Amino acid sequence: MSKLEGKIAIVTGAARGIGQQIAKKLAAEGADVAVCDLKEEWCAETVGLVEGLGRKALAVGVNVAVSAEVDACVKKVIETFGKVDIMVNNAGITKDGLLMRMSDEDWDAVLNVNLKGTFLFTRAVARPMMKNKAADGTQLGGVIINIASVVGIMGNAGQANYTASKGGVIALTKTTAKELGSRNVRCNAVAPGFIQSKMTDVLPDDVKKAYMDTIPLKRFGTAEDIAKCVAFLAGPDADYITGQIISVNGGMIG
Ligand SMILES: NC(=O)c1ccc[n+]([C@@H]2O[C@H](COP(=O)([O-])OP(=O)(O)OC[C@H]3O[C@@H](n4cnc5c(N)ncnc54)[C@H](O)[C@@H]3O)[C@@H](O)[C@H]2O)c1
Repeated sequence: MSKLEGKIAIVTGAARGIGQQIAKKLAAEGADVAVCDLKEEWCAETVGLVEGLGRKALAVGVNVAVSAEVDACVKKVIETFGKVDIMVNNAGITKDGLLMRMSDEDWDAVLNVNLKGTFLFTRAVARPMMKNKAADGTQLGGVIINIASVVGIMGNAGQANYTASKGGVIALTKTTAKELGSRNVRCNAVAPGFIQSKMTDVLPDDVKKAYMDTIPLKRFGTAEDIAKCVAFLAGPDADYITGQIISVNGGMIG
């Protein structure tokens, strides 16, 4: 039996990039997936990938930074699938600039999507996950996985808003684990290093080379590298892991 057979997952920012690969991997492990992104129509490709693996998919247009939209999304998932077992908070944006020149708008936009969005979905799924019980009353709980970043641990010039948001996600992950652990809801974060994606494609070559020099494994990560770690954390092999920040960064930092 596949490790996530019968599980229902929500993945935000799943239209492309890392989120798309996470949705695909969770489906490959047996989960049905709510594919969430800003616009429902952007989710079509990922929905096709999930369905191609023989799993059910639901496309949901949701802005993770808007409380009412997040609550409506979780409600729709529960109406469709009956429950939610796995929550992956992956949606994220950057608006880089040196902090002395950073506008209030760029600060707020990044904090609202990356940190507040993670909080809103965590709050919305907490109660439904706590209600997940087996027929014999055993607490099944659920799993929340937040996508942080290596720079949320080490800081990075030019990314005051982004690094603060990811540092916040790390602290939120630890607090969530402490608050919900007694109901068997686990919460961990994956901290990717430099991953090949639309987010990093735009960086100049000299910046990419500087990063490569710091990576012992001498390659940039792929979205699949992150998805494999998320699937592990979502499954039974990670039953006793909560409140942890797992770095997937080729050895960039220890
Ligand atoms: N690419 C990297 O090197 C890297 C490194 C560390 C961490 N991360 C993190 O991984 C996650 C995914 O990154 P990616 O590289 O795949 O980025 P990406 O830009 O390719 O994809 C992000 C997705 O999130 C969606 N999104 C943005 N704002 C949203 C909102 N308000 N509501 C709903 N969806 C929204 C976008 O539409 C997009 O589909 C992010 O949290 C990012 O911070 C990426």
